[in-house]
Amino acid sequence: MDIFVIQGGSPLSGTVRTAGAKNSVLPILAASLLTEQPLALENVPDLSDVRTMLRILEMLGARVEHTGPNALEICTQPSAQPVAPWELVRKMRASFEVFGPLLGRRGRAEVSYPGGCSIGVRPVDAHIRGFEALGATIRTQEGYVVAEAPPGGLPGGEAYLATSSGSSVGATRNVMMAAALARGRSVLTCAACEPEVVDLANCLNAMGAKIHGAGAPTIEVEGVEALHGARHRVIPDRIEAGTFVVAGAITGGRVRVEGCRPEHLTALLDALYRSGVGIERGPDWIETQPRDLAERLRPTDITTQPYPGFPTDLQAQWMVLMALADGVSVITERIFPDRYMHLAELLRLGARIRRQETAAVVEGVRTLSGASIMASDLRASAALVLAGLVSKGQTQVHRVYHIDRGYERIEERLSQLGATIRRESVPGESQPA
Ligand code: UD1
Repeated sequence: MDIFVIQGGSPLSGTVRTAGAKNSVLPILAASLLTEQPLALENVPDLSDVRTMLRILEMLGARVEHTGPNALEICTQPSAQPVAPWELVRKMRASFEVFGPLLGRRGRAEVSYPGGCSIGVRPVDAHIRGFEALGATIRTQEGYVVAEAPPGGLPGGEAYLATSSGSSVGATRNVMMAAALARGRSVLTCAACEPEVVDLANCLNAMGAKIHGAGAPTIEVEGVEALHGARHRVIPDRIEAGTFVVAGAITGGRVRVEGCRPEHLTALLDALYRSGVGIERGPDWIETQPRDLAERLRPTDITTQPYPGFPTDLQAQWMVLMALADGVSVITERIFPDRYMHLAELLRLGARIRRQETAAVVEGVRTLSGASIMASDLRASAALVLAGLVSKGQTQVHRVYHIDRGYERIEERLSQLGATIRRESVPGESQPA
């Protein structure tokens, strides 16, 4: 199994380009199941989660052609059973989003319950309620969610997608894909407003769907008889861009993140401003301004919220920044209340953080010092790498397969910015299947 070995203390400086958004490309790949014609995608990040999704799609009849370094074409002849098995769905929760396309196009879907993961319980009740509202009959059978549309296809309907934390990004996308091929009109209320929902809607509309209002809490979908092929460019990954911006801020370097959409990162940029980090930005770039690390940042509270609030996927990275701030800050997690696996690892580096129910109270310290630490989930592992970059001495981050799920060659790109980081294979440690 691979680990990262990081020598802390190198100031980062230079330019890094943002890759395509993981959270956009995964549902967009699933949307290819809605047509037999080719869907050509550009700006596809090279990630293990993308490869997992392609394997699932191939099981469902897709043929995939890699047409360039970050481009592919996908075409589906739906010969196989509309079944997505546990072995693949458990690896990646986003694979549950093949459900909507299968149900919409084939009138039947059998997808394994995704189960929990290290960031929390993660139910799928909002997805199921949404499919029922469109007219599907749903039952649970041997760990699978089985859905059937009435003869002639889903009629469409009014789906209310609220969850305890606001709305569900995955349920919004899943139900929107099923509704695209419904016989009638559907209205999705309390829909998620994330940019990745909008990107999917744009792709579906390019395929011939009639979706209005994506990006707002009410989305209207006029069902169409069939979708066709299209070409679509995936939006830049706001979480990846935000992680590099925080890397610049933490190390006090001048890091320019190009090819991003600063308007997708307003909450992060506001928090950085409040903490005292100098930021310049243009239409598609953000640059952190150099800072003497002896001048510590102001402690700055954040609360994770649905978009456009502060993203839960940047909470762990923010915690590392605050671990070195000049005072006490409070981080409140409103999306995944148990998403604090990184906290214990940061303590091993000398951070002072305590959990209080769904919040973390961070008492900034002057220095962190390197140690062996363990990645537990994708974004937590990015945060641990950031912590390694500013810890004195050597930090070893174990289980980096988590980070490979969502960051393209992160060690190479951080090295190009001046970080001292290398990947090593450690014999005897094996990655879970
Ligand atoms: C997506 C992102 C993930 C991000 C999350 C929140 C992808 C592939 N993943 O995950 O990176 O952290 O949005 O921005 O895009 N919930 C329910 N019932 C449901 C579904 C969700 O109660 O049926 C709850 C969840 O437990 C959680 C909240 O709603 O508390 C948000 O989850 P959701 O928006 O569905 O996250 P994902 O789409 O899985």
